Order: sequence, then C-alpha cells, then structure tokens
Amino acid sequence: MDANSFLVTELIDAGLNRREARWLVEEFSPSNHEAIGAMRAAAQRRLDGEPIQYVLGHWPFRSLDLDLDPRVLIPRPETEELVGHAFDELMQRRLKDPLIVDLGCGSGAIGLSLLFELRQLGVNATLVAVDSSRDALEVTRANAAKHALEGVTTVHSSWFDALDESLRGRVDLIVANPPYVGATEFATLDPVLGYEPFGALVSEDTLHAEGFLDLEVIIGQSGAWLVANGLLICEHGNMHRPAALQAAHDASFTDVQDLDDMFGNPRFLIAKR
Ligand SMILES: C[S@@+](CC[C@H](N)C(=O)[O-])C[C@H]1O[C@@H](n2cnc3c(N)ncnc32)[C@H](O)[C@@H]1O
Repeated sequence: MDANSFLVTELIDAGLNRREARWLVEEFSPSNHEAIGAMRAAAQRRLDGEPIQYVLGHWPFRSLDLDLDPRVLIPRPETEELVGHAFDELMQRRLKDPLIVDLGCGSGAIGLSLLFELRQLGVNATLVAVDSSRDALEVTRANAAKHALEGVTTVHSSWFDALDESLRGRVDLIVANPPYVGATEFATLDPVLGYEPFGALVSEDTLHAEGFLDLEVIIGQSGAWLVANGLLICEHGNMHRPAALQAAHDASFTDVQDLDDMFGNPRFLIAKR
C-alpha cells in the first residue's frame, strides 16, 4: 500500500466515506507533516457535518470549477439545468453580444457558466452580476478571475434597485436563482442548510405563496429592463408554479412557460417579453 492509500484508509476508519476520503487526500497531496495536519483538520470539519464543497473549497458546476466558501450558496444540480435552458434560448436567438444580468449571483455559478459556454462558441456575452451580499460579489469576482472571464461587472444591489439606469430596456436575458424557501419550511429542512448563508435561502411570504417575495419582485420588475423579445429565466420552489405564472402574466410577459427539473419538480419559469 502506498502512503496515500494509508491516508485514505485512515480517513475511512475515522468515519468518512471512501469517495470523500479519496477527494481529501487528492486535494491536500499530503507529503509532509504540515499537509497531513491540514488534511486531518479538513477531514474533521467534514466529520463535524460541514458540506464537502466548503471543506474542499471548490466544486464543479457545468464546465467550471468554482471556488466556494460559506459566504455563498453551494450551487445545486437543478441550477445547472437552468443554465442549460438559458444557453439554449440564447443560442436560438443568434445574438452576437448578448447582455446578461444574473440576479443573486452568489458564487457566480449561473452567469459565469453562461459567459464561459457562450464564449466557447464565439459568442461574446457581457455579464452584470448582482447581489445584496458584498461577500458573494467578492466570490463571483474571484471565480471570474480564476477562469479569466472578462466582461463581468459586479453590482451591489437589492435586485434592480442600484442597477445603472442606462441598462433599462437593454438586457437580453435576466437569470435568477433567488432565495425561495419560506421561513416555516426552512425550520423543517435538513439542519445542514445552516452552513449556507440564511439570506441566500430564505425569502418572505406573500399573499400568494410562502417564500415568494423575492420572486415576486424579480418577476414584477424584470420587464422594464429587458429588450423587446428579452427573456427572464428564474428558478423557484416546488409550490411556486401557479404564483410564478400569475406574476409573469400580471407583468405582461407574452410567452410564458414553466418547466420541471430533472427530479420532476416544478422549477423553472421561462418568460419572454
Ligand atoms: C439561492 S442563492 C443563488 C446563488 C447562485 N446564483 C446560485 O445559483 O448558486 C441567492 C442569492 O441571492 C442573494 N440575494 C438575496 N436577497 C437579495 C436581494 N434582495 N438582492 C440581491 N441579491 C439577493 C443572496 O445573497 C444569494 O447570493
């Protein structure tokens, strides 16, 4: 058995599963006492319940390896699907230089992935990444730099409040994965969610649905920022389909659909102006 296999066995004996034990050993490439100490400390964080994504400090999302830490939400597989829908819609439009706004950018997962994938096909998109958390904007900027993605502006704002007025009527695509868990539901969910920022997960209730306030604001205000024929794509909670469709109709979107995610749950509002 080589040295790394011994370490993997040590971590499995301590209680980690084999896959995660391997990842940690690969991550730290422990060749001296210091690195072995750092790896054991990381393993302890995982054993104490912290998500593996924060312990490793990075995680794949579509084509990108994103730096992650507890300042930002861990991007979910459903959100990779959202990016797929946005990408397909943009490619159908054959725009040369689309302007994209990512509301609640967090790690930058959605907007940066779109930028990266579009550029691989020669489409030179520009991204405005918005978040009310300055910490999240720092993580987005770090991920943009990590992947040498230019054309990214970060804006500290509550949704559209501090967006530059010159963007009104000029945005081709607004993407958003806002907080959409109601406080009552949050109290019933897996406590592991407590490692993630509360403000990234929980939204206030409205008359129409629990945890829907941020979605209501975004759907209600997006139209004014989109070009004619522009597109809004939002992720939402399992119970939000009727409220999301109603809000899109109330906001005068003409072509509105709502799609399930890969698990068969109502998840994506796709609304065209
Ligand atoms: C569910 S997380 C999504 C993060 C990332 N887009 C993703 O999909 O992994 C929601 C994000 O919205 C941000 N946020 C919450 N309230 C906001 C507000 N009023 N205005 C702008 N961003 C907000 C949070 O800080 C968080 O980064």
